[in-house]
Amino acid sequence: MIDVVTEKAFPLKAEDKHDETRQGEAFEPFAQDQNVYQKRFYIESYGCQMNFADSEIVASLLYKEGFGATRNVEEADLIFINTCSIREKAELAVRKRLTEFRKLKGEKKSLLVGVLGCMAERLKAKFLEEEKLVDLVIGPDAYRSLGSLVREAEGGQKAVNVLLSREETYADISPVRLDSNGVSAFVSIMRGCNNMCSFCVVPFTRGRERSRDTSSILRECTELFENGFREVTLLGQNVDSYYYTPPAENTAITFAQLLELVAQISPDLRVRFSTSHPKDITDDVLHTMARHENICKYIHLPVQSGSSRILQLMNRTYTREWYMAKVDRIREIMPDCGISSDIIAGFCTEEELDHQQTLEIMEYSRYDYSYMFFYSERPGTLAQKRYTDDVPEDVKKRRLQEIVEVQNRLSLQNNKLDIGKSFQVLIEGNSRKSDADWMGRSSQNKVVVFSKGNFELKKGDYVTVKVTDCTQGTLLGHVLQ
Ligand code: SAH
Ligand code: SF4
Ligand code: F3S
Repeated sequence: MIDVVTEKAFPLKAEDKHDETRQGEAFEPFAQDQNVYQKRFYIESYGCQMNFADSEIVASLLYKEGFGATRNVEEADLIFINTCSIREKAELAVRKRLTEFRKLKGEKKSLLVGVLGCMAERLKAKFLEEEKLVDLVIGPDAYRSLGSLVREAEGGQKAVNVLLSREETYADISPVRLDSNGVSAFVSIMRGCNNMCSFCVVPFTRGRERSRDTSSILRECTELFENGFREVTLLGQNVDSYYYTPPAENTAITFAQLLELVAQISPDLRVRFSTSHPKDITDDVLHTMARHENICKYIHLPVQSGSSRILQLMNRTYTREWYMAKVDRIREIMPDCGISSDIIAGFCTEEELDHQQTLEIMEYSRYDYSYMFFYSERPGTLAQKRYTDDVPEDVKKRRLQEIVEVQNRLSLQNNKLDIGKSFQVLIEGNSRKSDADWMGRSSQNKVVVFSKGNFELKKGDYVTVKVTDCTQGTLLGHVLQ
């Protein structure tokens, strides 16, 4: 996330603005005729993939309002920052960026600055008091009112809409793919979260859970495929609880069924999903994954802690043993499945024994990688109301460091086991380090880098690569004739 780099063992999430996959070439939205648009917007996204997907909805709505996109903030008439509240550091990063925008506003009086996303929802109109130069504050369910709010702000008024909705899924809005590599895209299938993990701010910033109309998801995925995309990631805070009943029908479509429907669009379209709550991922989902070659064999299964006592305080609704049994079940049904995790160090009351159990469960689960954080108390959450944030910062950091070290070792160990094996890789573009190499991913979501050689290959092609070497974060290999 926006947290310090040392917290990450593997640079894969969209939360990382410098993620290799997001370094797309100038893509359609920015290449539009410079003269058509009188005004330009610039948008910057922080936080999870949901926020990046939402920014593409926002871009679509702004086009309808006559704004064109720009990658150059100095050229913008309207700056949006799509924010994250998950940890204090994520909010601090946004504040810092806002001070930079403030300078631009000093130079260009007509410039409007808007705050979108989770921080907008958490702080609401208070944002306007705290950050005087912010003109618009718009929560994640209020983007349809963007046009009228921008007009209000252009008229000199401060504009706020942070109403949460029980229905909004933006199902009918075709996202404008910003910074896309033209190969993989995120497709939002649900919004909100009903889980109430005690540490988490998301249920407050994103509201109640709701699932998007299945037919609109299938339409979006089909269009992506027809436009050359070869991979979709179905997104939600808790995708396994997807549940949609089409109007005039009695039976609901479950996540397993949705996965199958998307997989059937084409065998050449890879399907991924994120995030699964361990309590909700069913055998039905696992068997559906196993049945379809094009559903990627990779599950992000955040454990958070390896101690049943801490898991209970976190309100995760599973125990250590239950989680381990789930890992066993995944490996039984799909022996080649990659598993990754999210882990929090130093949650309230965590003792050395609890921490050791976290290290143990990492070894047991043999995660390919993890996103690791130390606990950051968030205002309004159950943990903030009920428990004391009593693990000293230096202890949190030391435990996090130990977690990172275990993960680094596991990642390297797992990658070494892949040496000598061959994987089908979807090419996403040039390797970050050299134009002579391609970069793609295996079904297990591992980054694979290999020489272009004399092969006639292009972005979006599938190729079989034999792994000959590795680093902690990357498999290295060559194209198999
Ligand atoms: N819906 C996803 C998680 C979204 S937030 C899920 O349930 O898996 C991403 C990750 O941020 C969480 O899994 C958790 O590990 C971390 N996180 C959330 N709140 C946090 C907090 N207050 N302090 C530290 N890490 C936190
Ligand atoms: Fe937060 Fe838990 Fe919901 Fe994930 S499942 S978004 S951690 S409340
Ligand atoms: Fe952050 Fe909101 Fe996502 S708090 S992690 S942007 S849902």
